[in-house]
Amino acid sequence: MAFQLLPNMQLGVASAPAQIEGGDVNHNWNNWYHLGHIKDASSPQRANQHWEHWQEDIELMHSMGVKRYRLGIEWARIEPSEGNWNKEVIKHYRKLLTFMKSQGIEPLLTLHHFTNPMWFEKKEGFTKEQNIPAFLRYVSYAVHSFGDLVSEYITINEPNVYATLGYYGGGFPPGDNSVQLTSKVMSVMATCHIKSYRMIHRIRSKMGYTDTKVSFAHHARVFAPENPRNPLHISYTVLSKWMFQGALAKACLTGQFLPPLRNINHVPRGQYADFLGLNYYTRSTISKLGDGVANDGPKNDLGWEIYPHGIVSCAQELYSILKRPIYITENGTCDNQDTFRSRYIYEHLKALCASNLPITRYYHWCFCDNFEWLEGESARFGIVHIDYETQKRTIKQSGRFYNEIIEQGGVTEQLYEKYVHEEEYHS
Ligand code: BGC
Repeated sequence: MAFQLLPNMQLGVASAPAQIEGGDVNHNWNNWYHLGHIKDASSPQRANQHWEHWQEDIELMHSMGVKRYRLGIEWARIEPSEGNWNKEVIKHYRKLLTFMKSQGIEPLLTLHHFTNPMWFEKKEGFTKEQNIPAFLRYVSYAVHSFGDLVSEYITINEPNVYATLGYYGGGFPPGDNSVQLTSKVMSVMATCHIKSYRMIHRIRSKMGYTDTKVSFAHHARVFAPENPRNPLHISYTVLSKWMFQGALAKACLTGQFLPPLRNINHVPRGQYADFLGLNYYTRSTISKLGDGVANDGPKNDLGWEIYPHGIVSCAQELYSILKRPIYITENGTCDNQDTFRSRYIYEHLKALCASNLPITRYYHWCFCDNFEWLEGESARFGIVHIDYETQKRTIKQSGRFYNEIIEQGGVTEQLYEKYVHEEEYHS
């Protein structure tokens, strides 16, 4: 039952600005809320009020022994209208970054996590290659502003989820439904990632730093045919996987754009990641082009299958494209009552530690419950509970477990008995 963390493995927590900050910010998800698309009608304007509670949140993180924090900055706050930069916002983020470092917590900074400023959205965002320079200007501004405090960056979070849910009928803004646009957005985002990768290195090396690390956070799943003897299911599995995650990973990591993606800006082949960023949640069971869930097997509160071994196979697949240290940039589950999250953490970490892959980081998604996009406040992923009415933070049982894993460098028999033994998934 017991296991030790891998020798160089550090545990951290993750978040995204639009999911925690709150405030009336002019980005596409605030707009999406106003258009009435959030299932429980909750607003990102409330969320965790982290814009005000940031110090309390960092102190709480520190008290839980966390030394690594993946956080994001909000483009729409930094550049509220095109070409106008908000210095006060930069000051705010600098204060936060400086404070967390003083608490011994090192940042991994996400530059784009699903949200666009509305001026960028109105120019049709990442559907147009003409908009690439606008994104790069923002990246340049951000790295010049934070480069002395941050050495590790994620350019873009989950380009495939952003593209597929926003442009292939998944309910994210802008709510399009077009295969062509979906591939176009992935191609533009892969180009943005590659250009940002090179730019961040250039800027920080001009600043005199040699420790820069850049990647993107790739959302990958296991894809399995519903009926392994049905040739149609098998073909759809291969195709769905390639369209959703395979082509994109290759393009972002190596500059090789294979159909349906296109190398619209003629970026050269190369190696565009200093670590492999993997967001892993679940397995898709396929009987048609798209997504699906197995009939049996354990599920979380959103009906996603819980399939711990998949985290290893997805990491292995990325590693076969490019040999780099692996950061699990997100892994976690929707467990509203916190009755099986400790088991989920235990099983995923155990699978990772039994692999012989160079996994050096694991960032749990997420630190606090937060605004879960279309699900709003109704889906809880945190190891810290948020009472949205009072904004009170309370460490959950799974949060105490996580803290003890960090302190002990693994899961002992006693920890297993205390936190995992009695937890069960439901199906
Ligand atoms: C996203 C997060 C999200 C999580 C759980 C990931 O796809 O990066 O923002 O909250 O999944 O749905």
